[in-house]
Parts: sequence; structure tokens; C-alpha cells
Amino acid sequence: MVDVAIRQYEPADLGRCRSLWAEMTQYHRDIYDDPSIGGDDPGLEFDKHLDKVGRQRVWVAKVGAEIVGLTSLIQDGQEAEIEPVVVSFGHRGEGIGQSLVKHAIAEARKLGILCLSVKPVARNEEAFSFFYEAGFKTLGHIQLFMWLGPPMPGQWKPGPVLFGKSLDY
Ligand SMILES: CC(C)(COP(=O)(O)OP(=O)(O)OC[C@H]1O[C@@H](n2cnc3c(N)ncnc32)[C@H](O)[C@@H]1OP(=O)(O)O)[C@@H](O)C(=O)NCCC(=O)NCCS
Repeated sequence: MVDVAIRQYEPADLGRCRSLWAEMTQYHRDIYDDPSIGGDDPGLEFDKHLDKVGRQRVWVAKVGAEIVGLTSLIQDGQEAEIEPVVVSFGHRGEGIGQSLVKHAIAEARKLGILCLSVKPVARNEEAFSFFYEAGFKTLGHIQLFMWLGPPMPGQWKPGPVLFGKSLDY
């Protein structure tokens, strides 16, 4: 088991956290086969996120001196969402993501959160399994959408069946 330390975000972590955000965006580009996701400089989305949630709700995972992962909590009263969880590609499958989620759950408990959610994109099957294993087993909202842009053959894959209805994703 890798020796991982989780601590609150510090301003000196900015560059590394931007890189982790960009890695997460790349993963989404890959699974949707869409290089436009996240815009020209996806790492800068981290800055917007930091402004929104505040640095006291962002935590990083360190292995030795290296920051290898990132998570945060978006709080709204007694509800909160864990978003994102990202672990650097070379350190995945070592339990670091689960350590980050456990930490975020513990912080949510301290804040008195009653309902804690995660909202991975439907195509992210790996994240779905990961969060399921972390204990997220109650289905909350269901978000359905209709694509109104130009039709692109093969854009959606046939996906799960829910309440007897077949869905694309
Ligand atoms: C999803 C993500 C955060 C998971 O992080 P991770 O550090 O690889 O997760 P863990 O190592 O804790 O768990 C992943 C798997 O490794 C296994 N694992 C856990 N500890 C392990 C260890 N010590 N050695 C080997 N494997 C281990 C777990 O069983 C798990 O397997 P399973 O999900 O197939 O059952 C990571 O893949 C990632 O950053 N993805 C891109 C960003 C993203 O999609 N984030 C989620 C939406 S915000």
C-alpha cells in the first residue's frame, strides 16, 4: 500500500492542481472522443473551481514530495458534492483515490452534511465503479438530455437499461 498523505490545498499547489485538472479533462476528451472538451487551457478551470469552493474545501494527496491527487467539496447548506476526484495517471490503482474520497467524506461529516453526492458523467464507467465501491449506492437525480447540435454518427453508445427503458450514454 502506497504511503499517501492528504492535506488542505496551499497556494503553492496551484500549478500541480492545474495539471491534475488538465489530466482529468484529457480523460473526458478520451472517453467522449471530443478534443474540444475543457477549452484551450483546461488547467485554468481549476482556478475557477478554487474561487467557487474556497481553498479550505480543497485537499491534495501527496506521495513523498509529489502531489498526485486532488479532491474538493462543493457545499450547499446540509448538502454537498464531492467534485472532482482526480489521481495522476501514473499513480492510479494504488488506493489514492479511495483515500481522497474517505477524507472528503470525513470532512463532510465534520461540516454536518446530511446528503453527500457524486455526479460522474455517465460515460465514465470507471468512476461509477470507483464511487460505488466507495459507498455511493443510492441513486439521486437522473439527468437526461437531448442533443440539439449537428447530428454526429456514433456520438452516443447504447447504454444501461433503467426502469425498463434503454438509454444511450
Ligand atoms: C477515478 C479515479 C479518481 C480513481 O483513482 P485511483 O487512485 O485510481 O483509485 P483507487 O486506486 O483508490 O481505486 C481504483 C481501483 O484500484 C484498486 N485498488 C485500490 N487500492 C489498491 C492498491 N493498493 N493496489 C492495487 N489496486 C488497488 C481498487 O480496488 C479499485 O479497483 P476497482 O474500482 O476496479 O474495484 C482515477 O481513475 C482518476 O483520476 N480518473 C480520472 C478523473 C476522473 O474521472 N475522476 C472521477 C470523476 S470526477
